[in-house]
Amino acid sequence: MNRVPVHVSLIMDGNGRWAKERGKERVYGHFEGVESVRACVEAAAETGVKYLSIYAFSEENWNRPQDEVAALMGLMVKAMAAEMEKLDKAGVRFRVIGNRERLDPDLNRTIDSCEEMTAHNDTLTLIVLLSYSGKWDILQAAKKMAMEVADDPERREEILSMDVNGFDRYLATAGIPDPDLIVRTSGECRLSNYLLWQGAYSELLFVDTLWPDFRKEEFRSALDYYAKRDRRYGKVK
Ligand code: IPE
Ligand code: IPE
Ligand code: MG
Repeated sequence: MNRVPVHVSLIMDGNGRWAKERGKERVYGHFEGVESVRACVEAAAETGVKYLSIYAFSEENWNRPQDEVAALMGLMVKAMAAEMEKLDKAGVRFRVIGNRERLDPDLNRTIDSCEEMTAHNDTLTLIVLLSYSGKWDILQAAKKMAMEVADDPERREEILSMDVNGFDRYLATAGIPDPDLIVRTSGECRLSNYLLWQGAYSELLFVDTLWPDFRKEEFRSALDYYAKRDRRYGKVK
């Protein structure tokens, strides 16, 4: 059976509902959600997970009210600045993946410095998917390939003989193994345009827990669920 997944991915959902249940503004849920991220990073490091990716903001989330978007972006800068030294000491490599062109220069600078500071670490890689969507990722990969052929027609033959692993290299997640397990909180059973290509063979777990309540114990339960799955990869056992 499977032991510890190499790559665990989390769709952090339910912050707004968590706050509403307490009669508070939605952003209160986002603030509390940062604590859950901290707990899951610790649990991942403790259990030997090598990659932890978290869906923090989708391309679709840009359509939320301006004040919520601004609060979320502000929270990202604050959380990154506040956590990075500790993450670095714990051997965590920090990365952000997504459509960076849409982010504020201030946030982009913070991301660059956090990525640079932790680039040498290899205990755990924490990947924040920010301004990300699966369709955006596949489309930007296709555009990159098209541009390569336009610049150098000899690339055409190489691209025509390329296999799926070759395509992986054009995705924003190049070099990161596909997620073994994707967990979504808050009871919604959809991917909301998350890792569409990369999640092709991921185990999926949907839990009712709202993201701010998803802590170490819940993370460990998700690993237990994964350990019991029988992954056949289309074969007969
Ligand atoms: C997840 O919580 C955080 C983001 C998507 C940025 P939500 O903000 O989606 O909370 P609900 O789903 O409305 O409760
Ligand atoms: C998915 O949550 C995106 C993130 C967790 C960042 P949403 O709350 O935005 O998704 P929908 O709107 O329920 O599909
Ligand atoms: Mg939601």
